[in-house]
This record gives sequence, C-alpha cells and structure tokens, in this order.
Amino acid sequence: MASKILATLLALAAVSNAALVRKATCSDGRTTANAACCVLFPILDDIQEVLFDGGECGEEVHESLRLTFHDAIGFSPALTKQGKFGGGGADGSIITFDTIETPFHANGGIDDIVDAQKPFVAKHNISAGDFIQFAGAVGVSNCPGAPRLQFLFGRPAAKQASPDLLIPEPFDTVTKILARFGDAGFSPAEVVALLASHSVAAADHVDATIPGTPFDSTPGIFDSQFFIETQLRGTLFPGTGGNQGEVESPLRGEIRLQSDSDLARDSRTSCEWQSFVNNQSKLQNAFKAAMAKLAVLGQDTSKLVDCSDVIPVPKPLVGTPHLPAGLTHNDIEQACATAAFPTLPTDPGPVTSVPPVPSS
Ligand code: HEM
Repeated sequence: MASKILATLLALAAVSNAALVRKATCSDGRTTANAACCVLFPILDDIQEVLFDGGECGEEVHESLRLTFHDAIGFSPALTKQGKFGGGGADGSIITFDTIETPFHANGGIDDIVDAQKPFVAKHNISAGDFIQFAGAVGVSNCPGAPRLQFLFGRPAAKQASPDLLIPEPFDTVTKILARFGDAGFSPAEVVALLASHSVAAADHVDATIPGTPFDSTPGIFDSQFFIETQLRGTLFPGTGGNQGEVESPLRGEIRLQSDSDLARDSRTSCEWQSFVNNQSKLQNAFKAAMAKLAVLGQDTSKLVDCSDVIPVPKPLVGTPHLPAGLTHNDIEQACATAAFPTLPTDPGPVTSVPPVPSS
C-alpha cells in the first residue's frame, strides 16, 4: 500500500514537474518558456542582422545600452511626491516623445539611436518601452563577457514625456549623482554596478573633435578594464581638453568622464569600484541585477511576462584583467581605504593608443 502511494506521489510529481518545464514551441521551431514570447524571435533576428550588423558589440549596441538608461531613469518618486509628473521610467517615452526628450542636454547624441530604433518599433508589433529594453539586452549579449540580461515583456505605451533634468550629467558631483539614483531606487553599490556599461562604451559628444573615443581599451568586450583604467592616474586629454564633464585619461585614444573619475575615487563608492577589478562573476551578477531593476522602473511587473530565455547566451570573456602596456601598479591612484588594489600583469610591448570605435 505504502509503495503504491509513493508511486502515485512520484507520478504526480513527475507530471507537475513536466508542466513546469514544458516549453512553448514557436512556429519557427524555437522554444521559450511562454508562448507569448514567440513574437520576439523575428524581432531578435531583425535587430541582430540589421541594427547590430550581424551580432556585433559595436556602436549601435553601445548606443542601445545607453538608451535603456536614458529612457528608464526618467522616473522620480521625489517629483511625484511634490505633486508633479515624475516620469514613466522604462516606458519608451524617449522614442514616443522624442521631440521633447532628445533635446534635453543630457541626451546629447541620443537622437541617432532613437532614429535608428524607430523603424523597428513601427515595423514590429511592440511598444517602444519593450523595444528599447529588448534591444539593450540583445545587444549586450553580443559583448563577450557580458551576463545574459533579464527581459520582461509587456510594457504599455508611454503616456507622457519624461521631465527634464533627471538624467545624470558627467559634470555632476558624486553627491548629486547618488541622490538622483537614490531617488530612482538605486544604492551606491548598484550605481557602480550599472557603470559596468561604460566598459562597452564610447563618447561622441564630450569632445566632439574625437567621436567614438572609448572609456576603456576594450570597448567591444564586457570586462573589468573600465574599472582598472579609471583608477590609473590621468595624464592627458585625448583630444582638445577643456570639455565640460571630461578629465584627463591615462591613455591616448581613451576618454575619461569626470563622473567616472570621481565615483572611482569617492569613499562612498571606491571600494565597490575596485571590487570589480578582478572579479568578473561579481561584475556580471551585479550588473545583471541592477539592469533588471533599471529595465522595469515605473512598470507593474505583475503584468509583464518573463521572456529572458529569448535573449541569446553571451559569448565568454576574452582576455584577463591587466594594466595597459607601459603602465604599472605605481600609476594606480589607490582610493579604497580598506583593501589594496589587486596586483595585475602589464600588457607587454610599448605604450599604445586605443583606437576609436568605428561608426557604422
Ligand atoms: C553617473 C551616471 C552616468 C553618466 C554621468 C553618464 C554619462 C555618459 C556620457 C557623457 C556618455 C558619452 C555620450 C557621448 O558623448 O556620446 C555616456 C555614454 C554611455 N553611457 Fe553613460 N553615464 C552614466 C550612467 C550610465 C548607465 C547607468 C548606463 C547603462 C546602464 C550608461 C551607458 C552608457 C553607454 C553604453 C554609453 C556609450 C554610448 C556609445 O558608445 O555610443 N551610462 N555616458
């Protein structure tokens, strides 16, 4: 009798387990946890082929990642408390109300990717808010070393443009930056984690004479070089110098934002910053968690469907943490008071210059 009950229980468990893991098979044969996610596969193929030039981690991926932030951070509970409209967060308003939002000073240059993404939103039956976060997550998956980002699907259309002045500027103080992120629900550690995005990034407009100048020496790889290289003593301006929000960088061809420099050296954030230097899995996990929060700011997640399994699995990390050729541990400006900067090997050979990210 007991064995019969046990057998029945086991059979029941097997059935419910099968129900849990059963996948929807889409018309193209691909599988996903939820049939509602099937519509995303053709969009995935289209953006990988057309927007991201066949699956690169290049300029459009960098710009699409920046766009996820600039759309989402338009969200301020503090403004709402004052009885004002605080923004809809990750709602696509930066595309839907682009004539209002793209002229905001902090959105300099964002019109390029807004214009590039708009036809995809129009072509596919998807809200602008979903498209921005989907393109960001897909794009990041093209960068070796990146985590596979979460993607929740089903954001409704944006109702209103975000108010101005909610996007941090590179010339803002650390106090102002942390307060702005704090208002949106992010801790100082989460701010540092989000800035891993600057590992796959370049600036076109901080110094307009040198478009495509990256923030680290490996802008096509999601690695910790950004956290290493921002800790090196700044010695030169890669272009003209004297630009608002720019400070000296350690390498020709590399640009440094004042905000990144300050966050790397401020006692509220420097130890977290340094902790990513030789801990790729912490970097991946922290970025993934913080991006998951960013991507749903202002959204009712109970109404969204988890379509994360549509996002491709990123390629593994290429390379290991190192100091750029010609620089040593003596060039590190130690900022964290409680732990020493990790000892890293220096790349062999003479000092090199970082090439710009090609525009496509
Ligand atoms: C303190 C907060 C931040 C400041 C002050 C800041 C500022 C900037 C600036 C000034 C640029 C260069 C724009 C240009 O000249 O073309 C830039 C680029 C970029 N930012 Fe940020 N950013 C911040 C946080 C973030 C976050 C949280 C993300 C994403 C999660 C992000 C993603 C990017 C990316 C991917 C680029 C490169 C875009 C490209 O290569 O075209 N940033 N950021």
